[in-house]
Amino acid sequence: MQAFKRFYYDLEPDAQARAIEAAMSQALAVARPVLAAHCEVAQRIGQRLGLSEEIRHNLGQIYERWDGKGLPRGLSGEDVLPAVRLITLAQDAIALSEAVGIEEMAETIASRADGSYEADLARLVSANAPALMEGIGATVDRETILALEPDPPVTLDEAGCDEAFLAIADMIDMRMPLTYGHSRMVAQLAEGAGGQMKLPATDLRALRWSGCIHDIGELVVPVATWMRNGPLSVRERDAAQLHAYYGERALASFGREGEAMAALVLRHHERLDGSGYHRKVHASDLSPAARILAAAEAFQTSREERPHRRALSSDAAASQLRAAVREGCICPDAAEAVLSFAGQPSRRTPPRPLAGMTPREIEVLRLIAAGLTAKEAARKLDISPKTADHHIQSVYAKIGVTTRAAAALYAVEHGLVRPGETQT
Ligand SMILES: [Fe+2]
Ligand SMILES: [Fe+2]
Repeated sequence: MQAFKRFYYDLEPDAQARAIEAAMSQALAVARPVLAAHCEVAQRIGQRLGLSEEIRHNLGQIYERWDGKGLPRGLSGEDVLPAVRLITLAQDAIALSEAVGIEEMAETIASRADGSYEADLARLVSANAPALMEGIGATVDRETILALEPDPPVTLDEAGCDEAFLAIADMIDMRMPLTYGHSRMVAQLAEGAGGQMKLPATDLRALRWSGCIHDIGELVVPVATWMRNGPLSVRERDAAQLHAYYGERALASFGREGEAMAALVLRHHERLDGSGYHRKVHASDLSPAARILAAAEAFQTSREERPHRRALSSDAAASQLRAAVREGCICPDAAEAVLSFAGQPSRRTPPRPLAGMTPREIEVLRLIAAGLTAKEAARKLDISPKTADHHIQSVYAKIGVTTRAAAALYAVEHGLVRPGETQT
C-alpha cells in the first residue's frame, strides 16, 4: 500500500484513492514496474556504497518468492538466492508475529512450507519461533554489528566515505522528484561557505557529510506529509519537525566519530532567535558550522519547489535569506558566506556528453527525472509522444536502466537535475 501511495503521490486524495483501488485490482501488473524500480535503484545505490556483487545480486531479487509468485521476474525454487529466501521469510515472520502473535505466526509459516517458503527453512523457523523472536526489535549497538562483519573487515577511506555519503544523500532525496539533488546541493553549499569562513578542515568535513544526510530523519515521516499541498495538522507538523531529532538518533550508531555530524544534523532548522525547531535553542547553542548548515539549507530549500509553493529564483532566495538575517534568525556571516559561494559559477559542472546521449535525449532525461510523464515531456519539448517515447527508450538503453526511478537517480548523480530547475 505504501509503495502504491508513493507511486501515485502527485494525485489529489480522491484520485489517489481511485488509482490505488484500481491498482490493487490489477496489483501484479502495477506492482511489477514499482518493484522492478526498487530493485534497480537498490542495486545502483549498493554499487556506490561499495557493496559486493553478490550482495547487489541479492538486492535485485529481494521481492522474489520460493513458489514463483514473487516479483518482478517470478523466479522460483533454487533460482531464488539463499539469502533472499531467508530474508523474505524473516520479514514475514516479524510482520506476522506483530500482527497475530508468535504462536500463530509459527503455524502460518509452517502451513506455507514449500509454498511461499523453502520447506526446510519454514519448518526450522516454525519449530524455533520463540527462540528466534527473542530480542527482535531491541536496539543493537554498533560493536555487536561490527562483530558480525565477515573477515576481512571493510573500512572506507575519506574518498570512499564521500561517495557513500553522496549515495545516501541521493537515496534520501528519492522520496519525491521535488527534492532530487537537495541534500548534495546543501552539502556543497555548506562546505563551500565553511571554506569561505576559513573553518578548520574537520569542520568542513563534518559540514560536507552532515549536509548529505541532514534530512535522513525525514525517512521516518510518511511521504504523504511531505507531499501535502495544504496546511498540516498540529500532529503532522510536530512529527515532521522531529525529523532533525530522528536524524541525530540515526547517527548514534556512528559512535564518537559521528558526534560532530549528529550535533549539526540536530540543529539544521534551529534559528539564532529561538524561532527554529525542534528544540528551539538560541544563538549560544549554535556553532559557526551549525549556523552555516542552517543558512545553506534555508537558501537551497527556497530555491526548490514544494507542493504548496513555487521555487524562488536564486536572487529572490538570496533576498529572503537576507530578510531572515535582518529578523535575527540567520547568522549574517553564515548567510553572506553561503551567498558568496553560491555565486561562484566555477563550481558548476559544465555540460558534457554523457553515455553517448544526444542533447535532446539529455533534455528528455531531465524532464522525466523531474517527474514528467512521456506525454508531458513531449508537450514541453513540442514533439510527438511517440518521438518522446523513442528518446526515452534510447536513453534507458544508453545509461543501462529499465525504470524511471533508476533513470532519475542517474540524472541526479550526473548533475542533470538541480533542485529549483526541475520543472524548467
Ligand atoms: Fe533539507
Ligand atoms: Fe530538514
